[in-house]
Formats: sequence, structure tokens, C-alpha cells
Amino acid sequence: MKWYKIDEAPIADKPFIKKIKAGNKSICLVGFEGKLYAMSAKCPHAGADMSEGLCVRKMIVCPYHRYTYDLETGKGGEGQNDFIETYPVEMKDGDVFVGVPSFWDKIREG
Ligand code: FES
Repeated sequence: MKWYKIDEAPIADKPFIKKIKAGNKSICLVGFEGKLYAMSAKCPHAGADMSEGLCVRKMIVCPYHRYTYDLETGKGGEGQNDFIETYPVEMKDGDVFVGVPSFWDKIREG
């Protein structure tokens, strides 16, 4: 797992959704109810930019067809049978870091 420091992360109590880069990945960084979450910026349904969506009850809502994904697990809403890739987020000394697993990390996890 490689950790990327996110310089442009808004450190605020207010909710936000922002597209960031971690290595070569486009990631949607979400601040919601005092916690930070990271997921793919590309909707698994048809590729919409998730950073243009919104958050409702710990779910991110895609701006195109309103599919929902759990902020924590990435699991799609009832009946969708899909998920969005999520990434771990850590705060260290006031800085935000997002962890991106390598191809081999994913193979090892199974
Ligand atoms: S592109 Fe996201 S729900 Fe269709």
C-alpha cells in the first residue's frame, strides 16, 4: 500500500466532496459528519464523476442516475449489485493521507 499526502484536502468540519489525485488515481475525497472517506472518482455504473454527486445518510449519490454507494464500504444500494472502490484515509499531524493498494497488494488480499 502506498500512502499519498493530499495537499489540497479541505480541513473543515463542513461536509465536502472533492476530486483529488493520489498517484495516478482520481479519487473522490469526502468529508461527512466529521469523518473523511475516499473512493474512486469514477462511478462503476457508467463512469460519472462522483465528485459532482452528493452525500445522504452515509451514502454518496451519483449525479447521473442516482445510484448510491456506502461511504465506508463502497457497497452499492439495494438492488444495484455493484460497489465502488474505496481507499483508506488517515490524518497524521494535521495532514491527510490516502492509501492506494498496488496490483500485488490486491492479489495478496485475494
Ligand atoms: S453513472 Fe453513476 S449511476 Fe449511472
